[in-house]
Amino acid sequence: MEKIMLKKILFFLLCLVVTSNAIAEDEPIRLKFSHVVSNDTPKGRAADFFKDRVHDLTNGRIEIEIYPEGKLYKDKDEIEALQRGDVQIIAPALGKLGAIVPEFGVFDIPYLFDNYIKVHEVANGSPGRQLFGKLESKGMRGLAYWDSGFKVLSANFSIKTPADLKGKKIRIQPAIVGSELQIKGLQAVPIAIPVAEQYQALQKGTVDGAENPIVNFYTQNLYEVQKHLTLTEHGFLGYAVIINKDFWDKLPDWARSALTKAMANATDYANNLARNHAKEYLLKITQTGKTEVNVLIPEERESFKKALVPVQKEMAQRLGTDEALKAIYQTTGFTP
Ligand code: LMR
Repeated sequence: MEKIMLKKILFFLLCLVVTSNAIAEDEPIRLKFSHVVSNDTPKGRAADFFKDRVHDLTNGRIEIEIYPEGKLYKDKDEIEALQRGDVQIIAPALGKLGAIVPEFGVFDIPYLFDNYIKVHEVANGSPGRQLFGKLESKGMRGLAYWDSGFKVLSANFSIKTPADLKGKKIRIQPAIVGSELQIKGLQAVPIAIPVAEQYQALQKGTVDGAENPIVNFYTQNLYEVQKHLTLTEHGFLGYAVIINKDFWDKLPDWARSALTKAMANATDYANNLARNHAKEYLLKITQTGKTEVNVLIPEERESFKKALVPVQKEMAQRLGTDEALKAIYQTTGFTP
């Protein structure tokens, strides 16, 4: 009898703790959304779109503050800040999550995706959900995958084959093992520099060239400091939009459904923009007359692919044989 009484008291106390931590139905909700690129990129614009959509759907009961260009946190710091709950939403490059859940590194296997259709089959299908599932025990919840684009290489010399890059210092994205391996695989020297700091590094000659998706190349004004850009498309850059899990769990149902709906709209918006901006910004780069855009002929493209086969193999070996990875390899037709 006493035991039953004690259990009831404990249960009552537990309920008290849970409800006192939850966000009250009528409490205004504020979220900080931090990212590292310009407002003019697909990610920047989609974050703004998400903020406005959430405001409209909730009549201002949920307000989102956007912090672009790494003003609040940079790269790896933003992931730690999210885990601590100092910021509620971030959208890092998928490979940057590899430091927490190594399987996210799969997105950086060179030439893994032939096109966006394959990217979306992975991201929106069971593999994407399985990968997001792995974030939960790390205090994060995946909300969506957003595209940025396929990466290109730039320099002040023309790049036609991997031989042109031999020994050259190339700026890569910080905290992405796959990027490092890709550049090493091309016999060049990878130097990790935050996206917003590369302009200066290129201007000063700290590095000889850089890898970026077209949208980041253009919005960072890199055409002012890079004479040549080659459409190598040697890897994909996409983002995981993630929220602090504790924060999410404490939200009332109406707030979770508004955020989910707004995120679905923002994802369509982001992905359409990524494709349109890549074309539009490439044209604008050409129109500046400062950077020559080089389209590889099939033999040249093949030389990049061939040079990166050992990197594909090495990455697959490092990543292991998780079910999500097997499903991704099946979808993309990749043989590890
Ligand atoms: C980079 O570091 O260049 C990118 O990952 C930045 C971004 O978020 O697009």
